[in-house]
Amino acid sequence: MYSRPVLSFQHAFITGASAGIGRSLARLIAARGTRVVLSARREPELQALAEEIRRAGGTADVCPLDVADVAATQQAIAQWDKETGGLDLVIANAGVGITRPAHKLAWSDIEPVLRVNVIGAFATVHAAVQHMVPRGHGTIVGVSSLASMRGLPNSGAYAASKAAFATFLETLRADLQRKGITIVDVRPGFVDTAMTQPNKFKMPFLMHVDDAAKAALRGIDRGQAVVAFPWQLANAMSLAEGMPDRLWRTVATKVKM
Ligand SMILES: NC(=O)c1ccc[n+]([C@@H]2O[C@H](COP(=O)([O-])OP(=O)(O)OC[C@H]3O[C@@H](n4cnc5c(N)ncnc54)[C@H](OP(=O)(O)O)[C@@H]3O)[C@@H](O)[C@H]2O)c1
Repeated sequence: MYSRPVLSFQHAFITGASAGIGRSLARLIAARGTRVVLSARREPELQALAEEIRRAGGTADVCPLDVADVAATQQAIAQWDKETGGLDLVIANAGVGITRPAHKLAWSDIEPVLRVNVIGAFATVHAAVQHMVPRGHGTIVGVSSLASMRGLPNSGAYAASKAAFATFLETLRADLQRKGITIVDVRPGFVDTAMTQPNKFKMPFLMHVDDAAKAALRGIDRGQAVVAFPWQLANAMSLAEGMPDRLWRTVATKVKM
């Protein structure tokens, strides 16, 4: 089904590795022998994960970082690219969410979402491009969301931030596919992590975090352009994406989130 060979990685840098999908992905990647650089703001969580990986025989380093600090993000990726002898996998996974109707959103709700999900994610990916393109080799992964595919009710700035990231990844793919760089856009549906815990509505096809990480890694290994899961929600969002705007305006009012 896939024409591309399965990729293998030596040195990975993962943002948002202190919890949730990033932590689970880091464990899976490290278990296969890849040296992982674990990044997020909470250093104790990163140290605990690094210890766990080392005890299991893997190699892990920690890089405390707020991705919204662009200069620090550029510096961290440059430093670890040098220190590892060349990162061949960078995963921009760090993200924050907000579920609230537009009239109840304060600017203080919106701004952090843009800072982390747009500026932080773009800065991570941009820094990776600078180092990988001269070598003509590497895989860059962005974790966007199925929410990127259509304007959803109550999704505040979140769906828009993920749409921006997904479009950025798509344009990078167009520019870099002949330069040896693989760009993967991971689009999860609902995953049981700290991010979704405040949600009061019933989340359809809610996934266990380890299942989500496995699904993401399968697609990353294959160099898939878009890795969307679970399939039921991915298909529903593809349908929504293809819907005429006028029809979506009616459907969107009936979506319960
Ligand atoms: N859970 C879902 O249903 C779902 C669905 C679709 C997409 N996603 C996306 O998947 C990614 C991971 O989400 P998750 O569900 O695993 O959430 P999570 O459990 O809340 O983890 C979020 C991770 O991002 C890190 N992070 C947040 N702000 C950061 C910052 N300013 N700088 C650096 N790291 C930061 C957090 O670490 P620190 O707090 O230690 O910094 C944490 O490691 C996000 O991009 C999210 O939007 C999640």
